[in-house]
Amino acid sequence: MSKIHAAITSVGGYVPDYVLTNQELETLVETSDEWITSRTGIKERRILKGEGLGTSYMGIKAVEDIIRKTKIDPTEIDLIICATVTPDMPFPATANLIAEGVGATKAFSYDVSAACSGFIYALTTGTMFIESGRYKKVIVVGGDKMSSIINYQDRTTCIIFGDGCGAVLLEPTTENVGVIDSLHRSDGGGVQFLNMKAGGSRMPASHETVDAKLHYIYQEGATVFKFAVTNMADISAQVMERNKLRGEDIAWLVPHQANKRIIDATANRIGLSDDKVMMNIVSYGNTTAGTIPLLLWDYEKKLKKGDKLILAAFGGGFTWGAVYVIWAYDPK
Ligand SMILES: CC(C)(COP(=O)(O)OP(=O)(O)OC[C@H]1O[C@@H](n2cnc3c(N)ncnc32)[C@H](O)[C@@H]1OP(=O)(O)O)[C@@H](O)C(=O)NCCC(=O)NCCS
Repeated sequence: MSKIHAAITSVGGYVPDYVLTNQELETLVETSDEWITSRTGIKERRILKGEGLGTSYMGIKAVEDIIRKTKIDPTEIDLIICATVTPDMPFPATANLIAEGVGATKAFSYDVSAACSGFIYALTTGTMFIESGRYKKVIVVGGDKMSSIINYQDRTTCIIFGDGCGAVLLEPTTENVGVIDSLHRSDGGGVQFLNMKAGGSRMPASHETVDAKLHYIYQEGATVFKFAVTNMADISAQVMERNKLRGEDIAWLVPHQANKRIIDATANRIGLSDDKVMMNIVSYGNTTAGTIPLLLWDYEKKLKKGDKLILAAFGGGFTWGAVYVIWAYDPK
């Protein structure tokens, strides 16, 4: 019997309307459009405005996009996995709220927390449920409302992050397409360089933690940069090597959008020219778990059946990984 693969059969996405430009950031912190553009590649990011709107709001929109495009009945969805570090609440899981919001009443749902690698971790997890033959329709969502944990007085972080959410539908196929291989790693020693100190069980929220601004992202940018460059490139090369792939075999690198310089270094290492690298950091910044599905969403019309893709990410934890995907459909 042929092996069951998990094919990505649809992509959905949502970014909020509000555009936070480098020019607006110049009015908030001491920075410049020139510095941000040359050091990161970012010109603008989207921000979710509106009282009471959390990550689930964007996740629901992204999944509704898939439902609209595929015309599936939401009650056919077996499982929704949501990768996020900005859940609506510590519990219930944001995936529970998304399932409820889209009417996936027969699905079970849960969150995955792996920061910027969250989507590819969740994609591998969802793939296992399809490959096992147990489930037929699994939705993997990745997204973050980073503006909810950013200090807009800290110029080292507020210039990087934005809000957005993407999603994919996984379905079984016996063709040689879909998620073919993945490799993931984590190193909790990275906690000191990239974290949000308060609000968890180690340091619950208090007046003191709020006064000390401990509910915002803390990042030692230059250190994270060095780890990201090495590990994202290495793991992409390893996945390619064990699948006997060379640069010329790859149609697209789908890299996490943290910094254009990290993306360029990864592409360089695996021998890919710029025209084979998906990039939208210029308009969305780093949406954490949202970057990779939002790239697939933006580039969907350029993807052809049989295209070989390498998805690669690095993020807080540290967490990192790469996934080898053969695209399953032509533009519709
Ligand atoms: C954050 C990041 C853009 C900073 O760029 P960098 O080139 O490493 O800059 P540094 O932190 O070394 O700072 C260089 C100088 O620019 C200054 N600077 C920092 N942010 C600035 C800003 N927004 N505008 C102007 N100057 C800024 C610093 O204060 C420093 O000044 P100094 O030399 O006088 O001390 C970069 O380190 C980065 O992208 N890191 C990885 C991010 C990442 O991948 N995160 C993972 C989450 S997925």
